[in-house]
Amino acid sequence: VEVFSTYARQTGSLAKRVSLGKEELSSPKVLAALDGEPGRVLRKELGREKQRDLGAFFTGKRLAKALVSPFRGELKRGSVVLDPACGAGDLLLAALDLFSTRGPAARRIETLSQSLIGRDLVDSFARTARARLLLRALETTAHRGTISKEAVRSAFVNVTDGRGDADMPALESATHVVMNPPFSKVIAEADCEWAAGSVNEAAVFFVACLDELRAGTRVRAILPDVLRSGSRYSKWRDYVTSRSDIDSVIPYGLFDRWTDVDVFLLGLTRRARPKRKRSLWSYPRGKGARIRDQFDIAVGSVVDYRDPREGRWHPFLCARSLRPWKSLSDMQRRRRFKGRTFDPPFVAIRRTSRPGDSHRAVGTLVESSRPVAVENHVIVCLPKDGTKRACRQLMRSLKDARSTAWLDKRIRCRHLTVEALAVVPLFGAEDA
Ligand SMILES: C[S@@+](CC[C@H](N)C(=O)[O-])C[C@H]1O[C@@H](n2cnc3c(N)ncnc32)[C@H](O)[C@@H]1O
Repeated sequence: VEVFSTYARQTGSLAKRVSLGKEELSSPKVLAALDGEPGRVLRKELGREKQRDLGAFFTGKRLAKALVSPFRGELKRGSVVLDPACGAGDLLLAALDLFSTRGPAARRIETLSQSLIGRDLVDSFARTARARLLLRALETTAHRGTISKEAVRSAFVNVTDGRGDADMPALESATHVVMNPPFSKVIAEADCEWAAGSVNEAAVFFVACLDELRAGTRVRAILPDVLRSGSRYSKWRDYVTSRSDIDSVIPYGLFDRWTDVDVFLLGLTRRARPKRKRSLWSYPRGKGARIRDQFDIAVGSVVDYRDPREGRWHPFLCARSLRPWKSLSDMQRRRRFKGRTFDPPFVAIRRTSRPGDSHRAVGTLVESSRPVAVENHVIVCLPKDGTKRACRQLMRSLKDARSTAWLDKRIRCRHLTVEALAVVPLFGAEDA
């Protein structure tokens, strides 16, 4: 890991120079450091084998964001997010973006430093994570300005080297946990309740952390799909289920394009007392199409109160204007917007949705000849073949009681996510 020490040092001094106003935040070096550079350095300098030995695979931006997004609206002053195997900090960076702390840079960094904890066995990874968190905090501070040397030294001091799965104080202090633990093979301890012999380290690491968390702590983890789907891990699943309320279990697909491992996203809340198990883990198999096979799915990009009214005028679609199961061609509202817009036809789905609603995912067919700006409370499903016919089929499928039963069984939280919706089967496609 020697090679990474050099990178850690460079990133540390970059963060320092930027903090003291000696280098621009907009410098390409900063952009690279915040966008996948540590992963690139790891792949280039360390090589596959060593990466596998260490279990070091850093999460890309998109997946990190997808993982933490259910915490949106929950992270505030007093929240403590822990990544017990933080690598170069990619999951913590995604979590940092969800804090709505405002104010001058130095104060904001101090607050965020209290709210984000990371541990990694490799010291140079943890140091890189600290430097990147500082850069990201500066980048997302509205009133930019320099901070003192002292403030630089104390920024993100809770991100350190150490064994995250054995750090009781850290685990007990967390209100939220994010993780992508090492996936190597290890031998289960003799007294392990749920496995014997060789097991995936992710299973061991996950349970070691879960055991120490306080009741009510929310957890989001990227785990190898075999833990969700493999018969060898059914006891592990029972163990986890008995100690938590499962919020969601979402198959994701390949971890990234360099890593040939299928992963899933697990969301749960630690329970105070063990309960009888209830299985949420199995997904219907079979060759049937899922929504993601025929649609590109995205969350709308307009945050209405925040995004400047600049750029071209567009029809503006917000959650309130969606009439269930109808088609909509004349949007009442218009607004200027510079970001991503969507070309109809597409199916718009409101993101709020509760277990027990008569339909979990309610569709509206959006038709308009102009690109539409869409509010971020709306999920957009764009047919890959561009037809209204595909949209109508999707609406029928969403309206089918099987879609609601399926979502109720697998997603207990109150927000539909792109990842969850993507893997819902297309019901009725076979009879069309
Ligand atoms: C798969 S990587 C993920 C890193 C980061 N969370 C991310 O998603 O980008 C796992 C990391 O765990 C670290 N690690 C392995 N065993 C650990 C342990 N017992 N405690 C803390 N970190 C550990 C490795 O050094 C590696 O950086």
